Amino acid sequence: MANSLGKFFHFGQSALWQTKDNRVVGLDLGHSSVKAVQLRRDKGRAILETYGEMAVGPYGHLAVGQVSNLSGDQMAELLGDLFREANITARAVSVAIPLRSSLLLIIELPPLSPSQLGKVIPIEARKYIPVPISEVELDWWVIPQPAAGAPAAGEPKKVEVLLAAIHKEVINQDTAHLKRLELTPAFFEIETFSAIRSIFSGERGATVILDLGAGTTKLAIVDYGIVRISHTISKGAQDITLAISRSLGLEFAKAEEIKRSVGLLERYEGQNISGLASTIVEYIFAEAHKVLTIYETRQRRSIEKVILIGSGALLRGLVELAQQSFEVPVMLGQPFAKVEYPAFLEGVLSKTGPGFAVAVGLALRHLEALA
Ligand SMILES: Nc1ncnc2c1ncn2[C@@H]1O[C@H](COP(=O)(O)OP(=O)(O)OP(=O)(O)O)[C@@H](O)[C@H]1O
Ligand SMILES: [Mg+2]
Repeated sequence: MANSLGKFFHFGQSALWQTKDNRVVGLDLGHSSVKAVQLRRDKGRAILETYGEMAVGPYGHLAVGQVSNLSGDQMAELLGDLFREANITARAVSVAIPLRSSLLLIIELPPLSPSQLGKVIPIEARKYIPVPISEVELDWWVIPQPAAGAPAAGEPKKVEVLLAAIHKEVINQDTAHLKRLELTPAFFEIETFSAIRSIFSGERGATVILDLGAGTTKLAIVDYGIVRISHTISKGAQDITLAISRSLGLEFAKAEEIKRSVGLLERYEGQNISGLASTIVEYIFAEAHKVLTIYETRQRRSIEKVILIGSGALLRGLVELAQQSFEVPVMLGQPFAKVEYPAFLEGVLSKTGPGFAVAVGLALRHLEALA
């Protein structure tokens, strides 16, 4: 466990990172949809070779858009189909760990030497991690100034440490899934870090990332390019479909179809779909506001921008509603902007891009390591 930084934040030297043909795959095992992106490194450039997405629901006898817990067999079938249909050939696979299965927080410690920190942090981590330390992969990173808050006059100097823990069980489970395809994961990374890599372009101001997944919404505040806060909101885009389904007495699949076509913009056969959808979205934004307000007050920093990712962010009219709610510029994350692709894909990639932020970010990290 000692300094496992290489696994999550930096580039390890593991042989598993190596590829024969400079091809890598980022794999985002979302709760409602699995996404994969294959990139190739060519003369320092990242080239998009192929990408694909597979809804999880139908593999667990549920509908598209529904959160499902698949058995090992079902997941193997899904991954097999996804790799085959998207024509994924790379064997070097990196995998995202859901924020929900990890713990990410900043702790303050006295200024110690790196070796002292290496001893103190695992002991300190026990206070925050609700399971035995032996059950998690632990990682940490000392936040450099000026990202760390400056000490007030007379205050003892402290260092801020970003602490990350991932449940080993999740790593073992994902490894088992890949093993069935005769693949071994090169590395794991908490999804938030992957997404930041693919959608950030050097912003230093306080930026909010809202990842609208199916079951939950993940919020991260990134300031000076560093994750300061991460938080999971217990509602996601699936809740909009459920609200439409319940209110109109429709099956989930039909409600999902209506949600995707109508969004926050129109009515459907006289029914106020946008009203149902906006109730859920407004709940999510209100929860996000609570976290933002605490951050802004404590750090005396103003949020400058909100970036929406996750396929839930594709809801028609969402950016406009977010803009009104947050009163700062709001944009959709465009991860494919960091890679080269044929011009004819421009339209489809800018439309679906926000959903692939995590998968692209994983593949980019892997490619950087091959440089
Ligand atoms: N065009 C669209 N318009 C509106 N919503 C959409 C659209 N496409 C997908 N969604 C919604 O996006 C949600 C899935 O988002 P995403 O694929 O990012 O989730 P996930 O990664 O599987 O979930 P999690 O991140 O929680 O594991 C679903 O609720 C789905 O209905
Ligand atoms: Mg997701």
